[in-house]
Amino acid sequence: MNILVTGCNGQLGTELQKIAKDDNNNHWAFTDVDTLDICDKEAVERCFAIHNIDVCINCAAYTAVDKAEDESKLAERINALAPQILAENCLKNNALLIHVSTDYVFDGNGKKPYLETDPVNPQSVYGRTKADGEQRIQQSGCNYFIIRTAWLYSAVGKNFVKTMLMLGDTKDEINVVADQKGCPTWAYDLARAIFRLIELNGNNPAHEMFHFTNEGQITWYDFATAIMEIGGKHCKVNPITTDQYPTKAKRPAYSVLDLSKIKNYTRMEIPDWRESLEKCIEELQRPEGA
Ligand SMILES: NC(=O)c1ccc[n+]([C@@H]2O[C@H](COP(=O)([O-])OP(=O)(O)OC[C@H]3O[C@@H](n4cnc5c(N)ncnc54)[C@H](OP(=O)(O)O)[C@@H]3O)[C@@H](O)[C@H]2O)c1
Repeated sequence: MNILVTGCNGQLGTELQKIAKDDNNNHWAFTDVDTLDICDKEAVERCFAIHNIDVCINCAAYTAVDKAEDESKLAERINALAPQILAENCLKNNALLIHVSTDYVFDGNGKKPYLETDPVNPQSVYGRTKADGEQRIQQSGCNYFIIRTAWLYSAVGKNFVKTMLMLGDTKDEINVVADQKGCPTWAYDLARAIFRLIELNGNNPAHEMFHFTNEGQITWYDFATAIMEIGGKHCKVNPITTDQYPTKAKRPAYSVLDLSKIKNYTRMEIPDWRESLEKCIEELQRPEGA
């Protein structure tokens, strides 16, 4: 199959590039905004035609959650209108669209892990634009898997793990919110799950929403404490409340995602959050060239 990856230089796209290196069965085309701007309708059409695309994995997104509050038009274009363009091209070319969405589509007032069928009620511009993108794909008539994930991190780009490790080198103590609960996701584990879905389904008809994170439920405070421990940093982490750390965009207080559906579908073991965190930090701290 011919697989197109958009936004390939981000966290998830980079992990998919690693997986593709060991895949001799498919032909992969990796693009980012400099080679394929997903908002550019004609460029997307050309790309589908040239590469004869069977599967499109959309890793491109506007992911600056707080900045989105001031740039709602741009966030809407990238997170909602562009996925619709991809969906229309998938429909026209009988291709499967694999799109990634977020736990921020939920309001966070829940008390038990969110199911794929639970109603969305986003509380931020980012969450609203991502929910809008999901809906446009579902209404397009194309074949799709939409995978909602949360608290994504990897060895590349900007993320919570890298920020904490950096603060661990420069600060004696930091304050981290302890009243927001969710579960982190190592981008490599998500990339593996996406590849598994492709192996299982090919580009056959599909109209499914899935939730994928690592296993477990923790707060940002728990996460920061574990990062300092595993990373060998002597930085004290103090628990604080969301009120003590105001941000422009509202975050869900509880956004644990139920993983039953993807586990049943893929028959995959999903690693516990701490196990994957250890692997990512090991990768980050590995001497260059080793
Ligand atoms: N990060 C998280 O914590 C998190 C949590 C839940 C869900 N998600 C979702 O997971 C997916 C992957 O996230 P990620 O963390 O891997 O994202 P990321 O690291 O921010 O990567 C996104 C990539 O898309 C590119 N891009 C932006 N606009 C584009 C355009 N118009 N056309 C083509 N490429 C464009 C970005 O380029 P520039 O860097 O040059 O803008 C970047 O390389 C996204 O759908 C995101 O919403 C992320």
